[in-house]
Amino acid sequence: MMAKAKNWTSAPWHESEDLECVMVVPETADSATFTFRAPSGAWFDYEPGQFVTLDLPVPGGNVQRSYTISSSPSRPLSISITVKAQAESIGTRWMLDRLKPGMRIKAWGPTGAFTSHRHPASKYLFISAGSGITPMMSMTTWAWDSGVPPDIVFVHAARTPADIIFRERLELMAARVPGVQLRFTVSRPDAFSAWPGYMGRLNQIMLGLMAPDYLDREVFCCGPDAFMTSVREMLAALGYDMSRYHQESFGAPVGEESDVPADIAPEEGASAEVVFADSGISTPCAETDTILAVAKRSGLNIPSGCTFGLCGTCKIKKVSGEVHMVHNGGISDEDIEEGYILACCSNPLGRVEVEV
Ligand code: FES
Repeated sequence: MMAKAKNWTSAPWHESEDLECVMVVPETADSATFTFRAPSGAWFDYEPGQFVTLDLPVPGGNVQRSYTISSSPSRPLSISITVKAQAESIGTRWMLDRLKPGMRIKAWGPTGAFTSHRHPASKYLFISAGSGITPMMSMTTWAWDSGVPPDIVFVHAARTPADIIFRERLELMAARVPGVQLRFTVSRPDAFSAWPGYMGRLNQIMLGLMAPDYLDREVFCCGPDAFMTSVREMLAALGYDMSRYHQESFGAPVGEESDVPADIAPEEGASAEVVFADSGISTPCAETDTILAVAKRSGLNIPSGCTFGLCGTCKIKKVSGEVHMVHNGGISDEDIEEGYILACCSNPLGRVEVEV
C-alpha cells in the first residue's frame, strides 16, 4: 500500500535551494523530459511559458543553460523541462547522457515574458517547431486545468510524425474538448504508416486551412530562429496585427534600440572601477566593460546564462555607484528598486561596488 504522506510545504521554491531530478521520461528518439522537485518539498510558482536556467556540470566546467518549463504551474509540486538533442549542444547532451534521478543541480528562475498570462485573449494560435513546443504544452495544460473551455489552435511542425513531442498527450486533450485543435505538419511521413496530417513547410495557404480565423487570435510562436522569422514575415504579409504576435527566443535580440538616454550611457575610453566587496577585490576597467567581464578578468565567477539580460542568472546586488543597464526582461522593476543588477548587461559608470 502506498504511504500517505504530505511531502510538500506551503513555501514556494527559491533558487537558493538546489533542485533534485526525480524522473526522466523519453519523449522521442532524441528528446526527453526531466522532472525536478525541491528536496524541501517547496512548490513552484511561475507563469506558463516561463523558463529556468540550470547549472550543468559538463566536463571542463559548469555551463548555464535556459530551458522552458514544459509542465504547468497548475501542477505546482514539480517542474519539468523537455530537451531535444541538437548538433553540437553541450549542456543538453550532458543532460540526455548523464542526468539521472537523485542528482541535484543549481537552478535560477523561473522567469521570462513569453506567457499567455501577460496577454489574455479569448482565442489563441500557438505555432511551434521542434522543441519550441514546450511553452505551448505548458500554456495548453494550464488552459486545460483552469476548467474554462479553451480555444486554442495548436500548430506544430516536425521532421516526421515520430518526432512530435507530446503527441499522445495533446491528442488526448484534443479528443475530449473541441477547443483544442491540433494541426501538425511534417516534412515526411514515418515509414510504413499513413499520415493524415499536413505535409511540408508552413505557408499562407496551409495557415488559412489550419486556422481560418487566425486574424482574430493572439499568436505565440516558438522554434528555431529561421522558423520564427518565416512565421513572423508570413503573418505580417497577411495583414495580421503584429502587436498581438509574441515569440520566444534564447538568442540575443537584434536591431532593438536602447531607450536609455545617451547622457548616462558609458563613455568610450572613460575609466571605471568595480569593487567586489565580498571578495575584497577591486578592478580598474573601462566604462564600456560589463561587470560580468570584469569579474571574469578578476578571477571571480558570477553564474551566467544568456549573457544578454534575458535569463536573470547573473543577478547581483549593487552596494553603491551607478551602472548603465540595458536588459531584456531578465530582472523585475522591484529587484531594480531593491538595488539588484544584471552583471552581463551592466556597465559601471565610475566606481561601482557590488556584493560578489
Ligand atoms: S546571463 Fe542571462 S541575464 Fe545575465
